Amino acid sequence: MSYAVELINISKSFGNVRAVRNVSLQIRKNEFFSLLGPSGCGKTTTLRIIAGLEEPDSGVVKLDGKDVTYVPTHKRNIGMVFQTLALFPHMDVYDNIAFGLRMRNYPESEIRKRVKEMLEIVRLSGLEHRRIHQLSGGQRQRVALARALIVQPAVLLLDEPLGALDLKIRQHMMVELKRVQREVGTTFIYVTHDQSEAMVMSDRIAIMKDGVIQQIGEPYEIYMKPRNKFVATFIGDAINMIEGDYLEPGIVATSLGQIKTIASDEYFGKRVIVAIRPEKVLIGSEVTGDVDNVFEGTVSMTIFRGAFIEYRVMLGHDIEFIVFKPHVGSSAPLLTPGSSVKIGWNRDSGIILVE
Ligand SMILES: Nc1ncnc2c1ncn2[C@@H]1O[C@H](COP(=O)(O)OP(=O)(O)O)[C@@H](O)[C@H]1O
Ligand SMILES: [Mg+2]
Repeated sequence: MSYAVELINISKSFGNVRAVRNVSLQIRKNEFFSLLGPSGCGKTTTLRIIAGLEEPDSGVVKLDGKDVTYVPTHKRNIGMVFQTLALFPHMDVYDNIAFGLRMRNYPESEIRKRVKEMLEIVRLSGLEHRRIHQLSGGQRQRVALARALIVQPAVLLLDEPLGALDLKIRQHMMVELKRVQREVGTTFIYVTHDQSEAMVMSDRIAIMKDGVIQQIGEPYEIYMKPRNKFVATFIGDAINMIEGDYLEPGIVATSLGQIKTIASDEYFGKRVIVAIRPEKVLIGSEVTGDVDNVFEGTVSMTIFRGAFIEYRVMLGHDIEFIVFKPHVGSSAPLLTPGSSVKIGWNRDSGIILVE
């Protein structure tokens, strides 16, 4: 089976800015695939190359196995949704969604049927005669999505479509987008700088930095096994890191002392980083005698985060650990700032990274 989209060694420069460097990607049919990275890392340029709005300097773009590198956009069977939705303000919801089918001269009876179906999928039934300015931000997003999907593109490209929405609506729309994608089965390529959006929606994520793909994988894989320091810090709410030297098998020598780890031989003799996610850190009475790594610390902050409590714990003078603890029961005693506390983690919770 061919891939929905395949990029082979794509590069693109603007003057002396190397926006995209040797990018290779294989996106499966029906996949929700995200391009994630900080502003300016080359996400939009990559998307525009897939769309045919930009020509690469070198490399090949394939859609469904066919080389389309020099095929114009309108012959690529690709749909697009951007942050600026470019809806037609003088038309109502129905006419906005019907637009693509009218352009293709579909009979009105067929249009009516398909718009009705689409309204149900994006959950806008009953609003078909509203004007665009009478809709909320989230509803406008749904119209844009419906308008792009109604012509049944093989691939839908979405460039930061939720960027302008409030947090609550954005969180809701993330789940909605994922649901719609599952329902219609179209391949989605989603560009965002927001790691939580990519984590929530994607089957797989490609993380980019300075035009280069750093890692491609499922959300779980990228979170648990980041390939380098950049990916480890970019993904997730927080991560603790301690530098050290990997000199003895299974042991990293750090300023805090020895840390037991599981590290592959490739790191032997190198300067490495031991990284531990905040939810993997044991604290207080959880630190029993058989925990691999135990350190004494002082609580510097206790932050109530709703679903969990965040502790900041100073180890020595300059290492601050972040610890997330779910609170079970209503009267769990909080560790108060200034109190001494043990923290610890087992060796398999540590991730070994290099810069
Ligand atoms: N048309 C252009 N002309 C000149 N520079 C551009 C153009 N488009 C993008 N760039 C530059 O290429 C880099 C990548 O841009 P872009 O793909 O838009 O990144 P992202 O979408 O990840 O924010 C940036 O440094 C940007 O300034
Ligand atoms: Mg962009």
